[in-house]
Amino acid sequence: MLDVNKIREDFPILNREIHGKKLIYLDNTATTHKPKQVIEAIKSFYEVYNANIHRGLHTLSQEASKMYEEAHDKVAEFIGADGREEIVFVRNSTEGLNLVAYAWGLKNLGEGDEIVTTLMEHHSNIVPWELVASIKKATVKYVPVKKDGTLNIEAMAEAITPRTKVVTVTHISNVLGTINDVREVGKLAREVDAIFVVDGAQSVPHMPIDVKALGCDFLAFSGHKMLGPTGTGCLYGRRELLEEMPPFLGGGDMIKSVGYDAKTGRCVCEWNMLPWKYEAGTPNIAGGIGLAAAVEYLQKIGMENVRQHERMLIEYTLKRVVDELSDITIYGPMDAEIRAGIFTFNVGDMNPHEVSLYLDKEWGIATRSGFHCAEPLHMLMGATKGTARASYYIYNTTEEIDVLVEALSKIPKKG
Ligand code: ALA
Repeated sequence: MLDVNKIREDFPILNREIHGKKLIYLDNTATTHKPKQVIEAIKSFYEVYNANIHRGLHTLSQEASKMYEEAHDKVAEFIGADGREEIVFVRNSTEGLNLVAYAWGLKNLGEGDEIVTTLMEHHSNIVPWELVASIKKATVKYVPVKKDGTLNIEAMAEAITPRTKVVTVTHISNVLGTINDVREVGKLAREVDAIFVVDGAQSVPHMPIDVKALGCDFLAFSGHKMLGPTGTGCLYGRRELLEEMPPFLGGGDMIKSVGYDAKTGRCVCEWNMLPWKYEAGTPNIAGGIGLAAAVEYLQKIGMENVRQHERMLIEYTLKRVVDELSDITIYGPMDAEIRAGIFTFNVGDMNPHEVSLYLDKEWGIATRSGFHCAEPLHMLMGATKGTARASYYIYNTTEEIDVLVEALSKIPKKG
């Protein structure tokens, strides 16, 4: 198991007080804190070798390029990809999913084609597909979620037809915490030769991931949800698909050459090699290097240990809440085996924003409230005012959950 006390020493922000109370940070699904090692890597870039990449022969540019490129190698190794060619650095999972929807979708989707997804998706795995589907006259189909918060795989099998060109699913719901059996979904996609896209925003930071074992064509995730800097994220793509897709954004560094043809008066472009073909303009160099430091930090801890720690925390939470509290609605599966460290709930008829404000003001506990960018799921669950959510990471403790449970037991209930 994790040495949480030692881990906590690496996170300066955890020493903060909020309204006179020691901060209890339970909003890790939104973003995580950064350890000293990540902050130091970013500082060192700016203090020692700040320069643009792939644009200079001078020493600083060479050093920055090497570190930025090697950051791709580290991420590739972390998720079992074949190499840096399959790792595109983006701003966040949202941008990764948009990249696939637009670059792959605009080229490959046509009238009557279907994109199959689920009702437990984050808006970032709904909106880009709706946008591209409306341009290409394709349809997005939504597979329902069962009452216990798990995906209805039988309905998924029925929804997938020979017209299905894309199957896309979140690996872990950011609301329910459900860990979906994405391998099974991937098999269904392959049966009809659809591409299989996984939203890994909540899984890559929290459990061991091997893209080969998952059987996905694309996997998007965010660096800032796994100890990395904000504005960092990654899209894994199977090399042959990234080779054949057109670029998403055009500009500097994503081209090998831009030739002006005087006869036609047009410029003819040749794309750069992977992954730079998809990284137009000056990228977030410091961010990418910081993300690599985050990956190293997680690798040292071990992703299986991360998962087991969070499994223990959610199991502890569910048991205490069920045994000791009344009038709490818990959303998502009650089996910790298939649930990540995400506790989403409502207190009686209270507005979840009031719950979250109370936890912050009276107890120094940071939680999120609202629809968590998953409005269709909330409507399906009948949580029309939204939900409150506590979400865990490597630095959270059972003692912090004790405070959360005590706080909830003392909440002044209002309608
Ligand atoms: N997707 C993030 C969340 O669930 C922002 O909070």
